[in-house]
Amino acid sequence: MPAAERPLFLPIILGTPRQGRRSEHPAHLVLEETKKRAGVETELIDIRSLHMRLDDAGEEMKDPAFSATVERADGLILVVPEYNHGYPGLLKHALDMNLNEYIHKAVGICGVSAGAVGGARVIENLLPVMRELGLVTTFTDVNFGTVQKIFDEQGKLLDESFVRRVNKFLDELIWMARVLRYGRENIAP
Ligand SMILES: Cc1cc2nc3c(=O)[nH]c(=O)nc-3n(C[C@H](O)[C@H](O)[C@H](O)COP(=O)(O)O)c2cc1C
Repeated sequence: MPAAERPLFLPIILGTPRQGRRSEHPAHLVLEETKKRAGVETELIDIRSLHMRLDDAGEEMKDPAFSATVERADGLILVVPEYNHGYPGLLKHALDMNLNEYIHKAVGICGVSAGAVGGARVIENLLPVMRELGLVTTFTDVNFGTVQKIFDEQGKLLDESFVRRVNKFLDELIWMARVLRYGRENIAP
């Protein structure tokens, strides 16, 4: 299929295994909005469902299905809560299982927090990690601050402005993913 017609594949990684996690709600909003985009395929990757050893680290303990999904991806969307101003350790443990699979692909980050700053600190803290993995970050994030006011306990969206914010984020990510796919396929390194 010609590259222009081939759908982009942009999976979404839900970056916490915590019981009662509110980050599930933003992750599902982003999933539903991404599914509506023409020419884009997506799926949710829940880090709870990845096979990860706790007595090892890095590429030696790859989850083959996760690696194949990242290999197929044109870009990633991370939905990540802020834990003590950083990222959940298990997300880093999961991301570290791959390396070549990420190179020259786009990544967009949605921060989630109980506090007002919307996970801005977790996004900033992830940037050097993204760079080391070979991912290319977008400059349009989504900050789900005071997430308990954006969604109710059942996950119903209470603030419709987040539909627009998520779509602005997707506009930028889709552009970046297209540009990078063109580059990977047409321009020699
Ligand atoms: C270990 C831990 C540390 C946290 N640290 C912060 C923090 O630094 N800033 C903040 O705004 N919220 C913090 N929170 C609250 C989360 O942002 C809040 O639980 C929010 O709902 C997103 O995380 P969740 O998906 O686990 O629910 C912390 C929560 C946990 C479990």
